[in-house]
Amino acid sequence: MSLELTAPAPEEPSVADDGTWLECIACGAQFAPFEDVRYTCDDCDGLLEVRYASPPTWDDFEGRGVWRYNAALPFEEGVSLPEGATPLHEVPRLEADVGVETLRVKHEGMNPTGSFKDRGMTVGVRVAKELGVGRLACASTGNTSAALAAYGARGGMETLVLLPAGKVAAGKIAQASLHDARILEVDGNFDSCLDIVQDLAARGEAYLLNSLNPFRLEGQKTIGLEILEEFHEDYGSYPDRIVLPVGNAGNTSALYKAFRELVQSGALDVDDVPKLTGVQAEGAAPMVEAIENGWDETRRWDEVETRATAIRIGNPVNAPKALPGIRETNGTAVAVSDEEITEAQRDLAGEGVGVEPASAASVAGLRKLRAEGVVDADEQVVCLTTGHLLKDPDAAFEAGDDPEPVPNDTEAVLEHLAE
Ligand code: F0G
Repeated sequence: MSLELTAPAPEEPSVADDGTWLECIACGAQFAPFEDVRYTCDDCDGLLEVRYASPPTWDDFEGRGVWRYNAALPFEEGVSLPEGATPLHEVPRLEADVGVETLRVKHEGMNPTGSFKDRGMTVGVRVAKELGVGRLACASTGNTSAALAAYGARGGMETLVLLPAGKVAAGKIAQASLHDARILEVDGNFDSCLDIVQDLAARGEAYLLNSLNPFRLEGQKTIGLEILEEFHEDYGSYPDRIVLPVGNAGNTSALYKAFRELVQSGALDVDDVPKLTGVQAEGAAPMVEAIENGWDETRRWDEVETRATAIRIGNPVNAPKALPGIRETNGTAVAVSDEEITEAQRDLAGEGVGVEPASAASVAGLRKLRAEGVVDADEQVVCLTTGHLLKDPDAAFEAGDDPEPVPNDTEAVLEHLAE
């Protein structure tokens, strides 16, 4: 199987362009990377992955942000705002409260448009330019659309986004709108939006920049590379576990790919690969269902619901890449309730880290797994928080305290404070 953690570095095929090619994870068919627009395998419709003849080692990295890792990417530079180099926060109170040896929070909400999607877009839009496509498009629960709109604008390209009507947080629509995306609100959930935009892409109406596009995941690998580098600098070792929220499972796939390539190059020992641990909301948990039942694929959930609208997804398209990632790293997946998510959002806020609900799912999941004894007290853990608090102001108001109206008078204010 091509997705084994210990698979050796691949032989370069004749279709490769400068050591880079596309390969189907299901049947192994290989394709030239930039000659035609292609999202899945011509032969079997399986998912494609970008492959490199020489996977990178630590010494190859230089600079800051996503493009520090260009030795692990298909290009030297991209359409950049710039992105990456996000903080790996210490959260000592939360660490003690959850009860693990080390807890760090990688806050991807600190990217230019406020989510990790920027890492994928800087590469994806660069590839779009290489291919010479016209309009860029995506389906989105919000963050992808905000990133696409901004990076499309930066690259001087037209953008089209399909959103599930009434289920996208205000901050995200505001971003897509101001960055001048054409916004279509679909009377259906995210999965239906993705079905439609895939049809549009297949008919040549637009270039698809959802995480089905293998180049997006290349950029998102850099989250894993940054975590490993910084953690190693601080502790002289790599984290035992990385906990992250899962929607389409693109990030899970991307982190796993980063680890596999480091193992291939000899930069990372197999025993040092962190356990990938995915968290979903109870109302949208097909990945958790597949892990718990030992399935090789997910079952599509037609009805999904959660306050964490970013991960309100019933058909995770990257499951065939992500399920092996969770299993091969000895990770797991867990579902959490909306109440647990809000509680974790407050916990993070109490450490000064402001995140949107989906992001807090990682901490809620860690807390649950620690309580169940799946995570040990001596573990060193990194939780990924994927989006900024301001993405979803309504959820923040709901989780936070209400403002108190007071008269326009100092004495009255003092009186109110004394109450
Ligand atoms: N967290 C946030 C804040 C997200 O926006 C998403 C996905 C995820 C987690 C899940 O990541 O899909 O890689 O497993 N948002 C997509 C979007 C679907 O359209 O913005 P994943």
